Amino acid sequence: MADPVPPSSSFQVDPGPWVRFQPALDAMLEPLGEAVMARLLLRAGERVLDVGCGCGATTTALADAVGPQGTVTGVDVSGAMLEVARATASARGAGNVSFVEGDAGGHPFAPREFDVVFSRLGTMFFDEPVAGFANLRRALRPGGRLGFVCWHTLEENGWTTAPRDAAVVVLGPQASTGAEESVGPFSLGHRAHVLELLSAAGFVDVEIEPHDEPLLIGRGDVDEAVELFLHLLPTGYLLVEPDRHLLDRIKASLQTVIEKHRSDAGIWMGSATWVVTAR
Ligand SMILES: C[S@@+](CC[C@H](N)C(=O)[O-])C[C@H]1O[C@@H](n2cnc3c(N)ncnc32)[C@H](O)[C@@H]1O
Repeated sequence: MADPVPPSSSFQVDPGPWVRFQPALDAMLEPLGEAVMARLLLRAGERVLDVGCGCGATTTALADAVGPQGTVTGVDVSGAMLEVARATASARGAGNVSFVEGDAGGHPFAPREFDVVFSRLGTMFFDEPVAGFANLRRALRPGGRLGFVCWHTLEENGWTTAPRDAAVVVLGPQASTGAEESVGPFSLGHRAHVLELLSAAGFVDVEIEPHDEPLLIGRGDVDEAVELFLHLLPTGYLLVEPDRHLLDRIKASLQTVIEKHRSDAGIWMGSATWVVTAR
């Protein structure tokens, strides 16, 4: 068994699982994006930036919301995910969508270029969070709205702790996966920290609401749910090149946990997020 990936100051989202499991991840995360959109009250004709747009499901949903007179720009560091996003937008004939490959926390957007900055789980990865959020603020027109969703801590998210614990049953206690470092998916897990960052970046009227709801895992399919967990944080990071024998045992352990969450309605596991808005 290889060691877990060591914590790094510059967290990289592995695009592989996000591309491979895009339909399952979009089905799982759709309600979180909708919770942000519901608070942003998008209007026809607005110019929107989708931060860490990934494979672009939210980018096209935002384009629908602002209509043909509006525009949506998706920005992401991953060329592989943007390739999927571009293909999806093109297949849907979304002519008001464009994509930029780059670091949203440092990309030189034109000042006041956007009315709205949106993100579904894409704002936790800035190497320098205050500078990154300040870069987004400069891209907003005066009075423009920021809205994003981010995870609470890893321990508060049953959809991450349940599969991790299933792997730990086989592997034994593990060192940190790096997921909760200052840069990473759970780095905005504490309300006070989010407020401090956004205030330091110059945002006002910051509202940070807890949003807890079960998420659909693997589109309700046990095999897809097992594969998803084998490749996603935090379980995926515990399993760097596991040997075949261990992998089979981990899969069995994951299946047991998944079955506990399965009903006729699908496989649902708890999640805890913050829905954040500011100006
Ligand atoms: C957890 S995924 C979410 C993807 C997408 N928003 C969704 O909900 O399906 C995080 C995304 O943020 C992107 N990302 C990470 N750091 C970034 C940065 N500094 N600038 C832009 N995108 C970034 C990753 O490549 C990845 O696509």
